[in-house]
Amino acid sequence: EQSVFQAGLHSARPPFTFQSDKWEPLAKDVLSASSWGYIHGNAGAGSTYQKNLAAFTRYSIVPRRNMPSRTDDNGNPLFSDTSTTVLGQKLPFPIAIAPIGVQKIFNEAGEVATAKAAASVGVPYILSSATSTSMEDVATANGEGAPRWYQLYWPAREHDDITLSLLSRAKASGYTALFVTLDTFVLGWRPSDMDNGYNPFLHPDRIGVELGFSDPVFRAHFKNKHGYEIDDAERSQGVSATGLSRLGEAAQEWTKIVFPGHPHSWEDLAFLREHWDGPIVLKGIQSVADARQAVVAGVQGIVVSNHGGRQHDGGASSLGVLPHIVNAVGKDLDVLFDSGIRCGADIMKAVALGAKCVLVGRPYAYGLALGGEDGVRHVLRALCGDLLMNMHLAGYRSLNEVDRDAIIKEDDLF
Ligand code: FNR
Repeated sequence: EQSVFQAGLHSARPPFTFQSDKWEPLAKDVLSASSWGYIHGNAGAGSTYQKNLAAFTRYSIVPRRNMPSRTDDNGNPLFSDTSTTVLGQKLPFPIAIAPIGVQKIFNEAGEVATAKAAASVGVPYILSSATSTSMEDVATANGEGAPRWYQLYWPAREHDDITLSLLSRAKASGYTALFVTLDTFVLGWRPSDMDNGYNPFLHPDRIGVELGFSDPVFRAHFKNKHGYEIDDAERSQGVSATGLSRLGEAAQEWTKIVFPGHPHSWEDLAFLREHWDGPIVLKGIQSVADARQAVVAGVQGIVVSNHGGRQHDGGASSLGVLPHIVNAVGKDLDVLFDSGIRCGADIMKAVALGAKCVLVGRPYAYGLALGGEDGVRHVLRALCGDLLMNMHLAGYRSLNEVDRDAIIKEDDLF
């Protein structure tokens, strides 16, 4: 782990700055207006998003002094231990790659680049259902034994056959945990995309298109309904931004299935439990009542997340609700966190409030836009190095020591 920091100091020049607050403006410069609008854009007036970021300034880390360092077997001092166990898997850092769809919009190397970078740093890759690369190709790029999890946009129940096909392909490709996103049964009210007339699934800038198109059950469904096959030759050309091509019809069909417009019920989760034999994690939990429901539903984890403020406006900050949820269910399941993580100190604060690990979202997508695989790796290494040094200098030798006493509320100081 130390090597992340050493490399930062002593390696050749990085592909772009180590200053994490600069990644976003740099990425804006290289992205098209519509793909920038998609990645940065938020629901409504953006208030949930703004609160997500602001919440981190309301907590401050309390540094401790003269704490004896950890040592190796020969008594040599060691840096802090950032390792953790999530869903029964040991991880070097409390970080995973948040599922982000259609990554070829940000860089034509897309999910393959991100999956390779994640594996090289030991960070689990969570593949979005809205991927622009097939789950099998992403698994190959991620590599044998690299931790990877699958995020499900859960098809409407009349398409259980498609759900089962996705689950069995994910299992066969080595995705060990299932993340079920509950906050996106329909896409949010996103003014930037509407201003640009942009639906990333229907008009993705002529990228190669995957979505669910290599799924045999989806293909059969599409042929049955539309009377013709999804055209694989057209797929490499992408969906034209001008009007709905035949491939666009397939994208629209897929969108109708995975964003049916109405939520599933808590009882429906029994179906996933029956057909998925690994851990199940519910992504998008913001209320204590729902966290308790998740325990009753028998899942292994939740992600306290509001989708980075992209789904509903006027919500609480995700960090603000985290401690309340941890107090209620932290002993019963693994509580993961996302929405607003931008630097090492943010990760420490989420861990101090009880998160087992955080999902990094927009920052790595900015890295992908700026430098493909190297760009994602740079962002991940920078976040890991920043976390490690921040813990070390604040006197916290392992993540178990980063508890509620490691932070104070700024409001309580005055
Ligand atoms: C997302 N997110 C998301 N979540 C999910 O479950 N499936 C998906 O396909 C996507 N796609 C997606 C695309 C883009 C462009 C963004 C920015 C986000 C949400 C993501 O997993 C995570 O919850 C947020 O990114 C966290 O917010 P921040 O930290 O990125 O602001």
